[in-house]
Amino acid sequence: MDSIVEEGGATGKGAPAAVDASRRKFMHRMYNLGLALWAGAAMGTGGYVVGRYIWPRPEGSTTGGERSASFPLAQLDEQPMVKLLVEGQPVGVVRVGPDVYALGLVCTHLGCLVGWNPEARQMVCPCHASRFEVTGQVAQGPAPAPLKRYEARISGDTVVVT
Ligand code: FES
Repeated sequence: MDSIVEEGGATGKGAPAAVDASRRKFMHRMYNLGLALWAGAAMGTGGYVVGRYIWPRPEGSTTGGERSASFPLAQLDEQPMVKLLVEGQPVGVVRVGPDVYALGLVCTHLGCLVGWNPEARQMVCPCHASRFEVTGQVAQGPAPAPLKRYEARISGDTVVVT
């Protein structure tokens, strides 16, 4: 009789097992909730870090969702193409001779990101080998349309893209 009181208390012998199962279920749900929150935070942070790695913000630039972006002209001496975001769209700025050109980097074929080939002076798509002139015009398909062209101008020591 003493053992029944110790195990079940006033509610009887089966109650502690039900309470344990309920507590276990609650703890399991809390664990899953915590895991889901942690995974969401980790994915958000990871996505931001990967995005910043792929699209680094040039030093001294004003880039992002703005309608225009700028960066120091000297950066074009250090790297063949400076990547920016203009209105949230990836844009590549290159210099050919004294002129600067800014082109959208999304291929008009199936949307891969093109890269700059300084020797050929062309944007080249890694997916299906489309090529674009520095003006954005298609030099070789299958891309059906030119790359989006942005206005790029040199203002003192700064390149401004709009
Ligand atoms: S996505 Fe660029 S050529 Fe197909």
